[in-house]
Amino acid sequence: MVSAALKLEPIPAAAPSERRTEIMLRDVAVEYPSERRAKKTILADINLEIAAGEFVVILGETGCGKSTLLRLILGQEFPTAGSVIVDGKAVTHIDARCGYVPQKYSLFPDRTVLGNVLYGPENARSRFLGRLQPSFYRERRALCHEAESYLKRMGLQPQDFNKYPHQLSGGMQQRVAIAQALLMKPPVLLMDEAFSALDPSTRSSLQEQLHRIWTESRPTVIFVTHNTAEALLMGTRLILLGRQREGSSARKNLLLDMEIPTARLPFAARKKNSEFQQLQEYVADLAHRSSSMCVDEEPAESPVEGNLR
Ligand SMILES: Nc1ncnc2c1ncn2[C@@H]1O[C@H](COP(=O)(O)OP(=O)(O)OP(=O)(O)O)[C@@H](O)[C@H]1O
Ligand SMILES: [Mg+2]
Repeated sequence: MVSAALKLEPIPAAAPSERRTEIMLRDVAVEYPSERRAKKTILADINLEIAAGEFVVILGETGCGKSTLLRLILGQEFPTAGSVIVDGKAVTHIDARCGYVPQKYSLFPDRTVLGNVLYGPENARSRFLGRLQPSFYRERRALCHEAESYLKRMGLQPQDFNKYPHQLSGGMQQRVAIAQALLMKPPVLLMDEAFSALDPSTRSSLQEQLHRIWTESRPTVIFVTHNTAEALLMGTRLILLGRQREGSSARKNLLLDMEIPTARLPFAARKKNSEFQQLQEYVADLAHRSSSMCVDEEPAESPVEGNLR
């Protein structure tokens, strides 16, 4: 547990006129029908404003509603109460604005690796008549090159491009699913435990690649993970969600919402930084205490002064 408060400079925020809100959740609640009780509250009283270009990482114990929150933003599910707004519009359906790497990704079994990655953009760009235009094949070649480049950045080899999903390991399938989402170049990227099936060294190289892709095009990323070090390494802002307890009345799920001060450091230097390590301990401790049902205790003092929300 960290007790001494470090004095860190606040992360320079964009001037209000430059800051565009990409995602807004207002008084959001989600309840599902339950066998034992009439309904089960999963999320309650969620208020979030996420600016375009933020890299938001979400941590929280299993069942606290992380995937549910992503599905609300995607438009695959709708809140029981409150509103979800993306790019100024209420979310009413799945919009191409959001790219999504689901926790349980699925590839088309009858398409090759390349065919899977190309499916989205081909579908978006070429309706049947599009194939009659001379530019179609030129554009398709360019798209193939781009798809191959994303697959390589995800660590896949050219000899894998024509394999079918059943010929790939779970980790390779996961990387194809990530390349699939990236190729669409969505302004909002929702990633649900996208690196969970990867070995530590592949995971580390993909973290670096994703960071590079984010700095190149600055999409708004919402990245769910169970790994505190990964969250602090990747994000500019960290959200810790707590789980609603059966039998107790619904309470706020948002336990922590803070800017990550070490996001100001060069990517390669972050993990070695002592502030990073202190933050990691603080967040891991808070996460542990929240899952051990002792969140009502006095919270440990934050190692970051001034930027807890
Ligand atoms: N369609 C549904 N109907 C009923 N309950 C649901 C439904 N979808 C999710 N739940 C419940 O909502 C809770 C939150 O689920 P969610 O998948 O969002 O959790 P999570 O934080 O992503 O967990 P994990 O870390 O295990 O992936 C769980 O208790 C789950 O059983
Ligand atoms: Mg989940």
